[in-house]
Amino acid sequence: MTNLPSTSRHELDACFLGPYGENDTLLEKLVVEFLRDHVYWRRNFHPEDPPAIPTRAAHAPGYLDFEAKLRRELHQLSAALKKSVPFHSPRYLGHMVSDLLLPGLAAQILTLPYNPNNVSEDAAPVTVDLEVQVGLQLARMLGYPHDPSRADCAFGHLTSGGTVANYQALRMALALKAFPVALRAAQVPDVALPEDDWTAFNLAPAAGIELLEHWQAWLAAQPVSARRRWQASVEAQRLEQLGIAGFFAAHPQLRVPKVLAPITAHYSWSKGLKLLGLGRAQLQLLPERDMRLDLDALETMLETCEREKQPVLMAVAVLGTTEYGTVDPVDGAVDARDRFAARGLGFSVHVDGAWGGYLATLFRNADGSLRSLEDVRRGFEAFPAPEVYAAFAALGRTDSVTVDPHKLGYLPYGAGAFICRDHRATALLSEHADYVFHDATPDAYLARYRSLGQFILEGSKPGAMAAAAYVTHKVLPLDHGGFGRLQAQTIVAAEAFDRRARRFADEMSATLHALVPFAADSNLVCLALNPAGNRDLTRANAFVRRLHDELRSDPRQPLQSREFFGSVTTLRPEALGEAEMERILRVLQIDPATLGGDQDDRLLILRHTLMNPYLIDRENGISYIDRYFEFLARRVRALLAQASPG
Ligand SMILES: Cc1ncc(COP(=O)(O)O)c(C=O)c1O
Repeated sequence: MTNLPSTSRHELDACFLGPYGENDTLLEKLVVEFLRDHVYWRRNFHPEDPPAIPTRAAHAPGYLDFEAKLRRELHQLSAALKKSVPFHSPRYLGHMVSDLLLPGLAAQILTLPYNPNNVSEDAAPVTVDLEVQVGLQLARMLGYPHDPSRADCAFGHLTSGGTVANYQALRMALALKAFPVALRAAQVPDVALPEDDWTAFNLAPAAGIELLEHWQAWLAAQPVSARRRWQASVEAQRLEQLGIAGFFAAHPQLRVPKVLAPITAHYSWSKGLKLLGLGRAQLQLLPERDMRLDLDALETMLETCEREKQPVLMAVAVLGTTEYGTVDPVDGAVDARDRFAARGLGFSVHVDGAWGGYLATLFRNADGSLRSLEDVRRGFEAFPAPEVYAAFAALGRTDSVTVDPHKLGYLPYGAGAFICRDHRATALLSEHADYVFHDATPDAYLARYRSLGQFILEGSKPGAMAAAAYVTHKVLPLDHGGFGRLQAQTIVAAEAFDRRARRFADEMSATLHALVPFAADSNLVCLALNPAGNRDLTRANAFVRRLHDELRSDPRQPLQSREFFGSVTTLRPEALGEAEMERILRVLQIDPATLGGDQDDRLLILRHTLMNPYLIDRENGISYIDRYFEFLARRVRALLAQASPG
């Protein structure tokens, strides 16, 4: 990073294992040291217990046979794994993955032999607390309340990935939406209930939580037997008890709620609606404008829902779309939520920041406050666009967020995260109804979530992952001076890539029309290509497909035969809008009339994920971005020469 003092630069040098395995000695030292430490821990448990495996066993033929078999299998596995995709390399520009952070890797390896199970503190007396702390670290990054002595403190936990975090968001929003209806149906006395089912089903999330609080307080004041009775009668009316069919049959004036999401939303949303039994038909995809969720379309849809008495469960805004890295107007979505809640159409706003969530570190000062736009801009050419800044600044006003530590958090796979702004709503997720909880102290907060399995979709889950995320966030705090430095590198690389792509387009103009189809919001940059002279979309797509064949992983080819790895995506009029699609086709000199055939209703483009920290190798004066474009120019010329020999 040009804008970092040299000490900070050296600090970052120790962050990753490195493309060449440069930090192998550091990792090896750490692994060996903490493996020994673990062994001493075993021995010191009850040192009076003698070794159960005799020392001489290592010389017995059976032992040696077993070891030989084990080694053989491990060698085979290790050999086979050499065909893996080289995510660590700055030549890898494909999907949302890169090198692994050493702190996370070391903490995970260190923790594995202890094998903690974060389902509860019984099985994970240390790491379950770390997982709760990770939730608070992420909450702070997002601008949520993160002090556990506050009644409305946020809560977050790890999941296997962004998909499951999105499921958890749906589950929580649905529980909160339906609960006031159950309270009405149970005819709870002495709690001010909404006047009818429609009002009860359409409270704003904050109002739903307030009602839950009142009910909890009332319940806590009841004698034990009355408390049990009322708790049981409310439980009997809950959607979670009756199921979708039973609940809506009991409340015929209510309809199954819709989820509003941009057309670019990840397919986990469709999977989630199927899983919850709401049905995929309730996923209402909204069009985009300038590659971001169209707020006018959101407004129109909400007005239609209001008019037709169609409840809305949540609006999803994506912070870094899977295909283009674009950032939806989170601020506009929360404004719409507040406006429509005041009109009686309450819904929650969830941000799917599986990809872009960690970019929030760029927007935070070390004291947790929000940085100004001017401050964030320092060191970048154009990032962030004012719209992007406004989206990140509004994160603290949303209801819940998905963030993936196994993407821009540079941790090993198996790490997504769900964070909700007000933890009190988790009472509705608990498998054993624990409504009486409302003790707002850090100890009570921690004690509650030590039974993590009560609240989450998974049961048993790896404590080692929580340790990895916790240690990483401690070593690189989630603000612009810590983790933000890694995120800044990705933005610097994306801006360099964008510049180089435009130069490439100029240099190749006699041979090829090339275009960055839209300014990148973050660190994913796409490139649209069409050979000069071609006007046909199908032929343009075939050309990009052939190019991509040389950029994708192919286990039948030696790894080294690949110079670079990239990925592809498509541009569709439904996502871009007709006018924008036509603009792009015209610059590429593709006849828009050739769009819309059976297969080619979309334009295939190259997609580049620029998260490798070594894309610009200052030590050796190498830009892998320049090298990539030199490679692309070579391959484009070769492919065109093959297509028209002589
Ligand atoms: C925006 C978005 N949401 C959700 C997901 C799903 O995450 P995971 O693959 O970790 O389940 C992805 C994955 O790429 C994503 O990009």
